Amino acid sequence: MSGKTFYLETFGCQMNAHDSEKVIGTLEQQGYAQVDSEEAADLLLYNTCSIRDKAEQKVFHRLNDYKKLAKAGKRFGVIGCVAQQEGEKIFERAPYVSLVAGSASYRRLPELIARMEAGETRVTGLDDRQTDEAFETEFTARKNPYRAYITIIEGCDKFCAYCVVPYTRGKERSRGSESVLEEAKRIAGMGYTEIQLLGQNVNSYRDPTGKKSFAELLAAVGEVDGIRRVRFTTSHPRDFTRDIVEVIDAVPTLCDHVHLPVQSGSTRVLRAMAREYTREWYLERMDWIKAAKRKISLSTDIIVGFPGETPAEFEETITLLNEVQYDVVFAFKYSPRPNTPSLVMIDSISDEEKSKRLQILLDRQREIQRANYDRRLGEVLEVMVEGNNPAREQIVGRSSQNIPVNFSWPHPIAPAPGSYQQVRITRTFPNSLVGEAV
Ligand code: SAH
Ligand code: SF4
Ligand code: F3S
Repeated sequence: MSGKTFYLETFGCQMNAHDSEKVIGTLEQQGYAQVDSEEAADLLLYNTCSIRDKAEQKVFHRLNDYKKLAKAGKRFGVIGCVAQQEGEKIFERAPYVSLVAGSASYRRLPELIARMEAGETRVTGLDDRQTDEAFETEFTARKNPYRAYITIIEGCDKFCAYCVVPYTRGKERSRGSESVLEEAKRIAGMGYTEIQLLGQNVNSYRDPTGKKSFAELLAAVGEVDGIRRVRFTTSHPRDFTRDIVEVIDAVPTLCDHVHLPVQSGSTRVLRAMAREYTREWYLERMDWIKAAKRKISLSTDIIVGFPGETPAEFEETITLLNEVQYDVVFAFKYSPRPNTPSLVMIDSISDEEKSKRLQILLDRQREIQRANYDRRLGEVLEVMVEGNNPAREQIVGRSSQNIPVNFSWPHPIAPAPGSYQQVRITRTFPNSLVGEAV
């Protein structure tokens, strides 16, 4: 061991969280050890997100908070989506940063780190939609004790009008299904029972070896020995095919949950967003899911206040919520982003109005959610244990539907994270269920 240490902080989505696991594994392979404070580290890395302006600002705040450490000889690296988006401009804004690398260049990290160690002060790994390769490594550090992630597709070719991802994560590129299955088996061999397949649009998966469709890959991962739960996120309505519902019905290990971002309930706004589907097209997919033999829980993402969204169009999003009855909604105020097509559209709706719409939407969703959750009173759900909350004397976990479930436990020794318990639901909260082990 060389005694070199690094600190890594991750912002953004699950793709980023899992990229960090791969980066950690890669650095450990280079002789670095991870530490959990900035002060203790030789190298400080920030894996960044630029999906909304607030997310992007976080990294600059963090760099500012710790810039005095640069004088102590520590090195700084900015990786992830802000790195790819801002590129060398980051060196101007924070001159003590010596590495800027986007996710499409992580394969080259050992080389980039070596150059930085050799004293180069402006090392870049930037890839502007060039790479056809996915980043796979056998060294992935698994930091989540009960859930293992597998990236099956990287990048995005959809170019929604508001979104930075096609620019920050490069071209859409899928991994071979055999390589995915090998990783699933390796993970099962490590003792994991839950796998989450990841992709910005996970269901846009196209097996480069032509062997499996996305639905077939889901089934195959679900049938790996030892795997009890398979999740996948995020799906895109355009590529959401009926066989996905059929395979959920057929393979018991596939979780009772589909996350399908709609963004807006108005066909006019959807067109302006370049989502390339209509309200009716989306609702048809909801009908397929609702017609499944299993009761599949639904969640979505919504943007309020997209340029030109009228009050009546916003109201269409509310009526869509009423119609679908999601269990969870992630809603965001539209945030104009660099490089995106919607930047030329006038961000006509005031922040105050956006906040108002967001609040109306969240209030409505809270009522829907309460009614949905109340319907589960008395049900017995299988819960995977994630930990415990000593203050409340409760075990915390998650149901197959991805709903947080907290429950009382009659024995002195708490069940291990990753174990499964049957729980009868006795109370509901706005964002969780409460019950007792049966
Ligand atoms: N690939 C997924 C979305 C990934 S980004 C899809 O197409 O559905 C996660 C979420 O962030 C999006 O669903 C969207 O709701 C939100 N988002 C993306 N860009 C945004 C922006 N410029 N302003 C506000 N929210 C945004
Ligand atoms: Fe962004 Fe659209 Fe791609 Fe989703 S599909 S990541 S919203 S460009
Ligand atoms: Fe953010 Fe990049 Fe994910 S912009 S949401 S970290 S793909």
